[in-house]
Amino acid sequence: MQHKPVLYQEVLDILQPFPGGLYVDGTVGGGGHSRGILERSSPDGKLIGFDRDPAALTLAESNLAEFTDRVLLIHGSYHELALHLNNQNFHSVDGILIDLGLSSMQLDSPERGFSFRYDAPLDMRFDPGQPFSAFDLVNESTREELAEIIFKYGEDKFSRKIADAIIRNRPLATTQELAEIIQRVVPYSKSKIHPATRTFQALRIVVNKELDALEDFLPAALEVLKPGGRLAVIAFHSLEDRIVKKYFRQESRDCICPPQVPVCVCGHQARIKEISRRPIYPGDSEIEENPRARSAKLRAAEKIF
Ligand SMILES: C[S@@+](CC[C@H](N)C(=O)[O-])C[C@H]1O[C@@H](n2cnc3c(N)ncnc32)[C@H](O)[C@@H]1O
Repeated sequence: MQHKPVLYQEVLDILQPFPGGLYVDGTVGGGGHSRGILERSSPDGKLIGFDRDPAALTLAESNLAEFTDRVLLIHGSYHELALHLNNQNFHSVDGILIDLGLSSMQLDSPERGFSFRYDAPLDMRFDPGQPFSAFDLVNESTREELAEIIFKYGEDKFSRKIADAIIRNRPLATTQELAEIIQRVVPYSKSKIHPATRTFQALRIVVNKELDALEDFLPAALEVLKPGGRLAVIAFHSLEDRIVKKYFRQESRDCICPPQVPVCVCGHQARIKEISRRPIYPGDSEIEENPRARSAKLRAAEKIF
């Protein structure tokens, strides 16, 4: 299934791409948002697109074929954008987007092992060239490590039960084996999400070090953004959104001393202004058309200096 870009119009309204501008799409995926940026920055705006998944880059290359002379696609992680930009002799950019999580292509490719709806080897790597997969994580972690991962990154209150069940049933080779043992120990209510949803999210986050990448990315993005340039982040769960919210709050304040300090000693200066204090959510019609959009939250900021 072709991936529908989430909050498409909202992202373009925030980035306001202009002719001659230079933009980064840190998670190019199928190139949906990138296409909009390239169209709006016609005739000579440029875009540098990153993805950790070579299959996504192949698709983006074909979907963006008409813009080849204005697009550079890079296999790499968005948190290393400064390094890659430097290598290409670009030093600052006018706008940056990251649209986190999975694309529909990844979710709908059974062999990638992201979904418990298909039977496939436990994999979940964005970059299939990375040696460590969900198979290694599930079969080599201790009970305590598994319980902590499922609690911390899946926010699942049944984390201990699930970790115990995994240990009892190891080795586990497939998504179905894992989903079934979770279903056996976690009460399933039809009105709620599938009992394996949170564990799958947790494993995916750890396999791909997703939160570390986001934490490293935010200051790096600010560093390469031009004054007046804008940064937009679409998050799909509260762990990601909390990191972005906290960073934006901190960087939009002049002083970050603890409240008990009477006179500022930190010397911190606001480097951004938030474009809106509250996140931007998809409207009802977008959610109806694209249910994957329902948990999306967009936050955006403009660099001051
Ligand atoms: C939700 S999709 C992006 C969809 C895209 N905005 C579009 O309109 O087609 C997220 C993409 O980010 C990629 N990704 C995840 N973590 C990444 C990282 N650290 N660096 C670069 N790409 C990453 C995934 O492989 C996936 O293709």
